[in-house]
Amino acid sequence: MSGPQMTHKGKPRRNAGVPVVFFDTTLRDGEQSPGISLNVGEKLEIAHQLVRLGVDVIEAGFPATSPGDFEAVQAIAREVRGATVCGLARCVETDIRTCWDAIKDAEKPRIHTFVSTSDIHLEHQIKKTREEVLELTQRMVELAVSLCPGDVQFSAMDATRSDVDFLAAVLRRAVQSGATTINVPDTVGYTLPMEFGPLIETLYERVPELADVVLAVHCHNDLGLAVANTLAAVSQGATQVEVSVNGLGERAGNAALEEVAMALRVRQDLLDRPVGIVTTEISRTSRMVSNLTGYEVQPNKAIVGKNAFAHESGIHQDGVLKERSTYEIMRAGDIGLGESDIVLGKHSGRHALQSRLVELGIHLSGNELDEAFRRFKEIADKKKQVTALDLEALAGEEIREREDIYRLNHFYVAAGTNMIPTSQVGVRKEGAEQPGKAFSGGSVESIFRAIDDAVGISGKLMDYRVRSITSGKDSLGEVRVVVEVEGRTYAGQAVAIDVMEASAKAYIRALNNVTQQKEATGANPERVF
Ligand code: KIV
Ligand code: ZN
Repeated sequence: MSGPQMTHKGKPRRNAGVPVVFFDTTLRDGEQSPGISLNVGEKLEIAHQLVRLGVDVIEAGFPATSPGDFEAVQAIAREVRGATVCGLARCVETDIRTCWDAIKDAEKPRIHTFVSTSDIHLEHQIKKTREEVLELTQRMVELAVSLCPGDVQFSAMDATRSDVDFLAAVLRRAVQSGATTINVPDTVGYTLPMEFGPLIETLYERVPELADVVLAVHCHNDLGLAVANTLAAVSQGATQVEVSVNGLGERAGNAALEEVAMALRVRQDLLDRPVGIVTTEISRTSRMVSNLTGYEVQPNKAIVGKNAFAHESGIHQDGVLKERSTYEIMRAGDIGLGESDIVLGKHSGRHALQSRLVELGIHLSGNELDEAFRRFKEIADKKKQVTALDLEALAGEEIREREDIYRLNHFYVAAGTNMIPTSQVGVRKEGAEQPGKAFSGGSVESIFRAIDDAVGISGKLMDYRVRSITSGKDSLGEVRVVVEVEGRTYAGQAVAIDVMEASAKAYIRALNNVTQQKEATGANPERVF
C-alpha cells in the first residue's frame, strides 16, 4: 500500500516520513538499575558501541550526582565522536553548571534539565507551587541555553500524571525559553497506549510551538507497556524516543531500544518513520551491555533473548522450512546474529586476534592485548575453535579489569563428599598480595569467605548464577553474583575456563564495585532520585 499514511480519524499522520531520533539512556537511567555500577572504562566501551549502533544521542550520566558520574560523562564527552553527548541536570543552578562542565568538550553537547509537573510531586517531593515551577523552568532553561546554545532538552517529570493544562503551560514556557527538545516522560510507567497517543496529539494541538522543536517521549515499563506507549507516541508524531539497551532502567526499566527499533522497521508500512539504527549491531550491543552490567537477558525477551529466533514446535518448524515468512517476521541476521561464528584456532597469532577483535568493535592494545592473547592461547589450547562469543567474553574480562582495585592472584579449593571444603586465596591490591582462607559450607561458599577474609569486606550473597558461553563441555563458564553490602547491592561477573575461578573473580569484582562506588560517591552514595 502506498500514499500518505492516515490516522483512524482520516487525517494525515503528523511527521510521516520524518526520521525518529534515538536517544539512548542506558548509561544514565539504565545505570540506575539496582546493582549496576559501571566504571569509566566500561561506560566508554558501551558509548563507542552505541555510536556503531547508530544512536543519535547518548545520555552519558548525571554529573552532579557524584564525582564518579562527572568523570565518566566528561570522559565520554572528550573521547566519543559521532553522536550528541548529553548530561542530565535537575532544574538547579549548580546541577546545570556541573553538567555543562562535564559535557562542554563534546563534539555535540546537550544539557538535559528536568523538573516535576504533577501535583503529587509538587506537593510531596519538590514542595513548590505551579507558579514557582513555571518560573523555575524559564530561569533554568535560559541558564542552560546560555551555556549550551542550540541544544537544550527539557523534561516535565511525571508528565503523564500531570494536569494537562499545566503541563502544556510548562512545555510552552520551556520552548519560549529556548529548549530545542521537549520530553514527555511517563516516569512511573502509569499510562496506557490508548491515552498516551492522544496526550501527545493534545499537546501538539495546545502548544503549537512544539512543531518547531523535537518532541521526545521517555516511557518506563512498570506495566510492561513502555514500548507500546513509545510507539503510540510516535504514531502521533513524537520525533525522539528515549530508550535503553535490553530495556535497562529504574525499576522495571525503560523502553527497550532493540524492540522500538525493530518494531519501527518491521512495521514501517504502518508507522512510516525511518530509523537510523544499524540493526545488525543490535545483538552485539545487547551482549556487551549484558556482559558489562551483569544483567542477564531473559531467554524469551523480544529481539535479543536467546529463544527469540528459535522455532520449537513441529508445525512452526515445518512452516519455516517450507517458507520462512510463514512464522518469521524478521531474520536473525537482521540483528547481526549468526555471522561468522568460528573465528580463530590455536595457531592464530596475536595480530589475527587483534584484527578479529577490531572487527568485533573491540579495541585492545599494549598490556591488555598481551593479557587477552595469553588468555586466548589458554582457551585455544582447550577448545579447538574460538568463536566470536568467546572473544567478546574474553575482551569483556580485560575491559572489566581495567579499573579493578583487587585482583585474584591465585586460589585453591579442596572439596568432596564427607569433608569440609577448604579454600585459600591470594588477592592483589596495589602490587601487594593479601592472603585469605576459610573452611566452611560448600566449595563456593568457602572460596567467597576466603575472599572476604583477604579483602576485609563481608558481602551477603544475594544471587549466584553460572552459565556456559557456548555449547560443549569445553565452553567458557560465566558467573554472575549479586552481593549486598551495607544495604546496597553490587553485581560482579567474570568468565574463565574453570567455573571456580570465574566464581572467585566475579565475587572479587562485586567487592571492587563496592570500593569504587564508595570512592566515587564519597560519604553519601544516595542517588538524587
Ligand atoms: O523517568 C523520568 O522521568 C526521567 C527523567 C529524568 C527524564 O528519567
Ligand atoms: Zn526515567
